[in-house]
Amino acid sequence: MERLQKVLAHAGVASRRKCEELILAGRVSVDGEPVTELGAKVDPSRQRIAVDGVPIELEEPVVLVLNKPVAYLSTVSDPLGRRTVMELLPPVRERLYPVGRLDYDTSGLLLFTNDGTLTQRLLHPSVEIEKVYRVSVRGVVDRETRRALTEGVELEDGVTAPAKVEVLRQADGEDGVAVVHLAIHEGRNRQVRRMFEKLGLPVQRLKRIAFGPVTLGHLKTGEWRPLTKEEWVALYQAAGLTPPPYRRPVVRRDPDAGDTRRSQSAKRGPRRR
Ligand code: URA
Repeated sequence: MERLQKVLAHAGVASRRKCEELILAGRVSVDGEPVTELGAKVDPSRQRIAVDGVPIELEEPVVLVLNKPVAYLSTVSDPLGRRTVMELLPPVRERLYPVGRLDYDTSGLLLFTNDGTLTQRLLHPSVEIEKVYRVSVRGVVDRETRRALTEGVELEDGVTAPAKVEVLRQADGEDGVAVVHLAIHEGRNRQVRRMFEKLGLPVQRLKRIAFGPVTLGHLKTGEWRPLTKEEWVALYQAAGLTPPPYRRPVVRRDPDAGDTRRSQSAKRGPRRR
């Protein structure tokens, strides 16, 4: 069950705030009954939701992968006007948002979807999706460090779950740089940086190279691609969900239809089935 205004916004009716206004104005009905309460929860797959009597069209799910460059925020918008990952996406019809976050100074694999259930599952701690990072650190990753990483590092928000670590290149001294692959399934704030910092190894570069069954492969920095069909099935399965029919995002051909998602959909109103 999801909040009515969220379902309306996801269906592309208008922004969340405008949808709230539509609800308060009595223009939204669920199974034929007007609903004017903002807290109302609905099941969009079972209930008939309409605006001004016109049934809303629910978006089919899509998922894409971006190779995020550093110096981009992983948010949909930024009140301070900084660059966000949304600027790197193609102008697609679906209302995509990032699955979790990468730090401003982290690069690599970031998934985007319009499927709220998939996002919730992928980010839920109990699902334990493995994320792999390529980490460059200053200092030697010795046996003690590897043991700490694989057993758990005590951070201020608790001990981390056991990680998998593989040293790709060892540092040639305290001031040298070592490169490791670190696989974790938690998603705490700045977790990888904090784990290494705690062990006295400041992180120089951090890049996510895998998220569950999806890997970055040869995707160039700043570029995106849809999931392959195999990745799609594996990702939904890893999230404990039955994969819906495979779809790629629908890229708009009209360049003016670019990143004007909210205002466009607000003007368009509910789409007809
Ligand atoms: N861990 C971090 O420290 N930063 C990220 O962006 C992701 C994981």
